[in-house]
Amino acid sequence: MVRTIAASTLALALLGAVAAQAAGDPVATRKAIMQSVAGAAGLSGAMMKGEVAYSPAAGKAAISSFNAAGHTFGDYFPEGSQAGDTTAAAKIWEDRAGFEAAVAKLADAAGAAMQASGKDGPADVEAFKAAVGPVLGTCRDCHQVYRTR
Ligand code: HEC
Repeated sequence: MVRTIAASTLALALLGAVAAQAAGDPVATRKAIMQSVAGAAGLSGAMMKGEVAYSPAAGKAAISSFNAAGHTFGDYFPEGSQAGDTTAAAKIWEDRAGFEAAVAKLADAAGAAMQASGKDGPADVEAFKAAVGPVLGTCRDCHQVYRTR
């Protein structure tokens, strides 16, 4: 059950990202990527709190979603995409190196979580917490500086 929910949520989020990308809209694409990490973060939090029964497969699905975001998100901030329906801060374009370092923190934390997951996902919720904690720490750090709200 948990596995089904996780898989379908993530698949939907990824489909959204792909559809937006096909439309050539970087703002919609980066938001869709963030929606997928928000889904993964929601599932992670629910499993950590015991609201949703932990399963290694669901844990790994969440971690895979963070990892995919870490490797793609930074590609969707071309010049000219500062305007429109976006909460991306102007600082991204003023301090590109700083922003890329923040994206790399997400990618590095998610990469380490992938390593710790092994083939089948973290064995229990304690191992999952240890793997995902650092990933979740990157959300607020980046948003505080590179997002307008
Ligand atoms: C490297 C910086 C960075 C990291 C790390 C990051 N975000 Fe974001 N996030 C952004 C930016 C920039 C936006 C604004 C995108 C836009 O509106 O164009 C955003 C937007 C969002 C949104 C709103 C999407 C929408 O539809 O408007 C959510 C939800 C979100 N992030 C969740 C998360 C979560 C959860 C994490 C951690 C797992 C995370 N973010 C990690 C930079 C980051």
